Amino acid sequence: MNILLLGSGGREHALAWKIAKSKQLSRLYIAPGNAGTNDVGTNVAISADDFEQVAEFVHRHAIHMVVVGPEAPLVYGIVDFLEKHPLTRQVMVIGPPAAGARLEGSKVFAKEFMRRHGIPTAASERFGRDTLQDARSFIGSRRSPFVLKADGLAAGKGVLICHHREEALAGLDEMLVHDRFGKAGHQVLIEEFLTGIELSAFVITDGKEYRILPEAKDYKRIGDGDTGPNTGGMGSVSPVPFADDTFREKVERQVILPTIRGLQQENIPFKGFLFFGLMNVGGEPYLIEYNVRMGDPEAEVIMPRIKNDLLELFEATYTGRLREMTVRIDPRVCTAVILASAGYPGAYEKGKRILNMDKIAGSFVFHAGTARDPRSGDIVTSGGRVLAVSSLGKDLKEALGISYENSRLIAFEGKYFRNDIGNDLLID
Ligand code: AMP
Ligand code: GLY
Repeated sequence: MNILLLGSGGREHALAWKIAKSKQLSRLYIAPGNAGTNDVGTNVAISADDFEQVAEFVHRHAIHMVVVGPEAPLVYGIVDFLEKHPLTRQVMVIGPPAAGARLEGSKVFAKEFMRRHGIPTAASERFGRDTLQDARSFIGSRRSPFVLKADGLAAGKGVLICHHREEALAGLDEMLVHDRFGKAGHQVLIEEFLTGIELSAFVITDGKEYRILPEAKDYKRIGDGDTGPNTGGMGSVSPVPFADDTFREKVERQVILPTIRGLQQENIPFKGFLFFGLMNVGGEPYLIEYNVRMGDPEAEVIMPRIKNDLLELFEATYTGRLREMTVRIDPRVCTAVILASAGYPGAYEKGKRILNMDKIAGSFVFHAGTARDPRSGDIVTSGGRVLAVSSLGKDLKEALGISYENSRLIAFEGKYFRNDIGNDLLID
C-alpha cells in the first residue's frame, strides 16, 4: 500500500516509524512532516489543512490510505472532503469525519454526549454570550477552583483552571467578551473541579468494534513538580502502574463501551483512534475529554509498545474486520522525555543546530519540531517541542534511565527538559 500520513509533530514521526515497519507498505509520504519523518518516508510540502492539494497528491501518487495525525483537519472535515471528492472517493481514510470529530471539536457537544450515555464526567453548566450575566452569577455562587472551557478547538489553550473568583470572571470575559479564542470561545462550559490523577486511554475503532491500546500518562506542565503553564506535553509513560485490572475494567465498562454504543445509537461514523482523557478520582474513572486522534507525546510511548503491523490494524478498522484482530502489546515500559526550546510554551528561537544524534543508543528519538537547514544540511530546531526521547525498559526506572541519559547527551542551544517525568509513578 502507498500511504499518506498528515501532520508534522512527534506523534507523526512515531506513527511514520511504526508504519514504515509494516509488511504492507510500499511507499510512505508525510505531509508536511519534519526532519525525522523524512528518514522513514518522503516528506511532501503540503499542509494538512489544504484539502484540495491533499486530494490531488493522493490521486497523483496512487495513495491507498490516508492517515490523519492531528485534530484540526478532522474537525474541519478532511475525511468528508476526501470521501466525496471524485479523485479520492476510493481511498481508505483513517480518522473520523466531521460528525465524529465533534467529540473533540466541541466540548459542549462532547459533554452532552457523555450525559446522554451516562458516562461519568464532571458536572458542568454551559453559557454563551447571551447568558454572560448568568455565567457571572454562577461563578459568584460557587467555590473555587473554577474550570472554564472554551467550546471549540483552541490548540490546547482553551481550558482555564482558576483558583480565585476574580480570575475566573476575567477568564470568562476573555472568552465571551474579548474573543480570545475567536468563535471557539463563544460558548463556555463552567465545570466542577475534579481532584485526582490523570491518564489517557486509547482505542482504535470502526464505530462498532474497538480494540483497546496501551494507556499512557502525559506530563502537561512546563516545570518540574507540575508547575508553570500548560504545554502540549513534556513527557509520557506507558503503561500506567495505577491502571490495574480493576481500574481498566471500570474504564472499559463505564467509559469506552457506552461511548462506542453511543456512536452507534446516534449514527455517528467513526474510523480511527479515540482518546479518552481520564481522571482517576479515588479509584473511579471520570472522563475529562475526548480526542479523536492519537496523543502527543502519548503516541511516542504507545507506538513502540504495539507489536502488531499497524497497517493491518488500520486496514481491519477501515474494512470492518477489527473483530478478527488481536492487539499484541510489549509488556515493557516505555518512557518519553521531551526536549524543548528555551522559552516554550511562550516565545522561543528556532534554527538551533542539534548535535550528538548519532551518539544515541537504546532510545528512539522522535522528531517533533525539527527541520533540515537547506544550506548546511544540518538538523535544526523548528518548534517549541523539538524531540521526544523514547525508551523501552524492563521497568519504569530502567526506561527513564535510558531516556534521561540520551536526553542529556543530545545538545542544542536552549535545550530544556523536565527532570521528573514518571517520578510520581516510581514505587521506591
Ligand atoms: P484539556 O485541554 O481538556 O485536556 O484540559 C486541560 C487540562 O485541564 C486537563 O489535562 C486537566 O489537567 C485539566 N482539567 C480539565 N478539566 C478538569 C476538571 N473538571 N477538573 C480538574 N482539572 C481539569
Ligand atoms: N498529550 C495530550 C494531547 O495529545 O492532547
